[in-house]
Amino acid sequence: MDTTSKKYNIVTFGCQMNKADSERMAGILEEMDFQWTEEPNDADLVLYNTCTIRDNAEQKVYSYLGRQAKRKHQKPDLTLVVAGCVAQQEGEQLLRRVPELDLVMGPQHANRLEDLLQQVFDGNQVVATEPIHIVEDITKPRRDSKVTAWVNIIYGCNERCSYCVVPNVRGTEQSRTPEAIKSEMSDIGKQGYKEITLLGQNIDAYGRDLPGSTPEGRHQHTLTDLLYYVHDVETVDRIRFATSHPRYFTERLIKACQELPKVCEHFHIPFQSGDNEILKAMKRGYTHEKYRRIIDKIRHYMPDAAISADAIVGFPGETEEQFNNTLKLVEDIGFDLINTAAYSPRPGTPAALWEDQLSEEVKSDRLQRLNHLVATTAAERSQRYLNRVEEVLVEAQNTKDTAQVMGRTRGNRLTFFPGKIENLLGKTVKVKITEYRAFSLTGEMI
Ligand code: SAH
Ligand code: SF4
Ligand code: F3S
Repeated sequence: MDTTSKKYNIVTFGCQMNKADSERMAGILEEMDFQWTEEPNDADLVLYNTCTIRDNAEQKVYSYLGRQAKRKHQKPDLTLVVAGCVAQQEGEQLLRRVPELDLVMGPQHANRLEDLLQQVFDGNQVVATEPIHIVEDITKPRRDSKVTAWVNIIYGCNERCSYCVVPNVRGTEQSRTPEAIKSEMSDIGKQGYKEITLLGQNIDAYGRDLPGSTPEGRHQHTLTDLLYYVHDVETVDRIRFATSHPRYFTERLIKACQELPKVCEHFHIPFQSGDNEILKAMKRGYTHEKYRRIIDKIRHYMPDAAISADAIVGFPGETEEQFNNTLKLVEDIGFDLINTAAYSPRPGTPAALWEDQLSEEVKSDRLQRLNHLVATTAAERSQRYLNRVEEVLVEAQNTKDTAQVMGRTRGNRLTFFPGKIENLLGKTVKVKITEYRAFSLTGEMI
């Protein structure tokens, strides 16, 4: 098929892994001479990179997909692709549900997009969901930002928390080699990026599948070692990493973050629940006491570190008292940000089959109460920035007020201040904070 002057659009749902995968797939399409269009209805190829972490994420995909499937009846040469986690979960069934689809491809196949499309252009309807060894990414991602970039360091997850689809759809852990990571980071640095976020669903597991690991679970390559190894990447000023699992979080890692100037003082460590019985049922492998000790340790070394997390309310069987333990943890710790969610039963996960599911009313009531508390404590955390001078890396114009630019502090607080994006994009500047809100700050450049 001749792809000259063909246009493509990608719609991305879900987490940073999906965003990073979409950037790599966009890079592949551009190498194939496809051109980006903002408007899916103008595109010759539409790719949905999907998420199935909760039911509402999955349903959203079907409604988008329905519209493009209809358009295909008018435009038979439209190529329709579903990638990502719904693709992996549904596989062949997705073709039965939406026969207009050309390609269904799981997340492990993202780097194979060109290959798979070739089969489509040869006239096949293709499903690629078998587990594979992820091929090293040799393509050039089309990165959305000119300032910040993502680098995957480990794919998949071996944890099997009882509520979670991720291990089913992302497969078993596969770490990239330190050399491959360092080389991608140094390319990114040479292109002028200022900040890199290392990505993994369970980033502390990094390295345990690489040669050199022992059956006792000790491994030579750890996230901590990797941070030391990649730290000196030229021109990049900031390094972040996510997501951390409380089960594996080590004091060595905290010390490394304190010692290495480019590693930002921000930790994203989901706790999911503040109740030990619920944590056990979730199969998380730690207690709330252990979680509190980790935070104490972080604050011992870095008193001002920002702490964010994820939490689930309304897990099967959660009593009012157990939910209150989550509220208590949130109150005690003082988080800078928490992504909260009502529990959603997912196909193929143990907890979905349990009988003690809670009603939607109870779940949404708890979610509201938790969100209220999160906003209150986040505002208290924001307040500490008032009148302080913070280093802000400028990422974009403020879309709501074009006289302002938007950046982040090292602790990852969104910060707005008056300035011209032409002069400031990619610069790290000192900003005096003059106003605070729960999740963002306003200031003036000094
Ligand atoms: N690997 C990370 C998180 C991955 S999924 C970790 O272990 O913490 C992102 C978040 O989605 C999770 O932290 C959890 O809070 C939420 N989540 C996952 N499955 C869910 C479900 N079935 N219902 C509601 N929220 C869920
Ligand atoms: Fe899901 Fe648990 Fe793995 Fe996180 S650690 S991705 S919650 S199974
Ligand atoms: Fe969603 Fe898949 Fe990420 S289910 S949260 S896109 S790993």
